[in-house]
Amino acid sequence: MIKTPEIAVVILAAGKGTRMKSDMPKVMHPLLGLPMINWILKTVEGLTPERVVVVVGEGMDDLCAACAPHSTIVQKVQNGTGSALQAAIPALDGFVGDVVVLLGDTPLITVDTVQKLISARHADLNTGISVLGVELDDPTGYGRLLLNDDGTLHAIREQKDASDKEKLVRIVNTGAFCLDSIGLNDWLAQLDNSNAQGEYYITDLPEIAGRAQVKTRIALAANDTEVRGCNTRVDLNNLEHVARRKMCENFITNGVQIIDPATTYVHHDTKIAAGVIIEPNVFFGKKVSVEAGVHIKAFCHFEDASIGEGVTIGPFARLRPGANIGKNARIGNYVEVKNSNIGEGSKVNHFGYVGDCDMGENVNFSCGAITVNYDGFDKHRTVIGDNVMVGSNVNLVAPVTIGDGAFIAAGSTMTKDVPADALSMTRPETDMREGWAAKFRKIKGRKK
Ligand code: UD1
Ligand code: CA
Repeated sequence: MIKTPEIAVVILAAGKGTRMKSDMPKVMHPLLGLPMINWILKTVEGLTPERVVVVVGEGMDDLCAACAPHSTIVQKVQNGTGSALQAAIPALDGFVGDVVVLLGDTPLITVDTVQKLISARHADLNTGISVLGVELDDPTGYGRLLLNDDGTLHAIREQKDASDKEKLVRIVNTGAFCLDSIGLNDWLAQLDNSNAQGEYYITDLPEIAGRAQVKTRIALAANDTEVRGCNTRVDLNNLEHVARRKMCENFITNGVQIIDPATTYVHHDTKIAAGVIIEPNVFFGKKVSVEAGVHIKAFCHFEDASIGEGVTIGPFARLRPGANIGKNARIGNYVEVKNSNIGEGSKVNHFGYVGDCDMGENVNFSCGAITVNYDGFDKHRTVIGDNVMVGSNVNLVAPVTIGDGAFIAAGSTMTKDVPADALSMTRPETDMREGWAAKFRKIKGRKK
């Protein structure tokens, strides 16, 4: 059996990303909450490479931390993608096999597509390089792939160096390369910077290898969505859109009913079980999980929360960090839950705030009831037993404990613990003045 060659992956990510107009390195900008570099590292892990190195710029400590446990190497002067690859050479010491080069700013590339690229490198013994291309309706800004009659690649021409005729070519360089480690050092040594940008281009390697009769072949990405680069914030928005649509499509394929994917804002780590229904305009922040049978009504906002089986939530509900909604509970409109556990079957149906609370099962937390969890300095917990009826407009002033089965009368402000099965009420006496309103109207000279 022929042994498949080893793979080493080099990710070029040292660019400052000036066009992003941002203090952050470009590849640290997030897509669905995950930095671009981590999207590409996830793909790379799927290739099970022998080694991975990310080329970074000096002082990009956050980027190095985001790459861990993968190693990084510094490109001291950012003078082109070719010199970035050169900077990675010490990390490739002793490696023999396929060197796969990916661009950190092309984060949505998939394992299948990279494998297609690697296969193209192995088409015949004379092929030392393969380049991943894609056909675009508008190739502006990308390097153009100039092909020989036999379909092999002659050269890559950057937009800024291309003639008018070359600019008409619509098959472009996605930036992903697969190179035979054997020739790599020799080819890199021949790079020069005699081009419009005065940079050392990785894209010159096919022409250099060609001089020694080493061929470059291309593989074509099936569609452009996964191989689009990110140079500006507009590109970032477009990639975010692509990533979101793809994630929603995956959920839908796996049995989630998303009524309007265009307004369903998922996070990269959102977990949604089959059988969930999601109405339009729902935002998932980080770390949200939704169990089977949940119905999320329109206009909800969730972050760091878990929603148990069979829950109905919204419209207009907000779950803040630490909200755990138990099985079959109901969270209705204009309800905010934070750092609280809502027990199985409990209902917080309208206009309420539940913060720092442990609520038991089958509690009815009526309209306008709230937990008063903050004394101006510290937060305190409210503990509510099972089967409690909290009336409308109740203030539960924490720390406070309400025993199982207790009733709290509407309008009460509870500052003391309530024993199980008690009725508790704090309510001013009613002051009833018969005929008062009629007299008042007379004084004012009004009929209504
Ligand atoms: C590059 C390609 C172009 C291709 C396009 C695809 C070159 C010369 N051009 O152009 O053919 O169509 O990508 O998106 O390769 N980087 C470094 N060090 C540097 C310069 C860049 O690490 O000195 C990194 C950047 O961080 C970035 C990547 O390389 O992740 C690409 O650099 P960028 O300047 O964005 O190249 P493009 O102009 O997009
Ligand atoms: Ca780019």
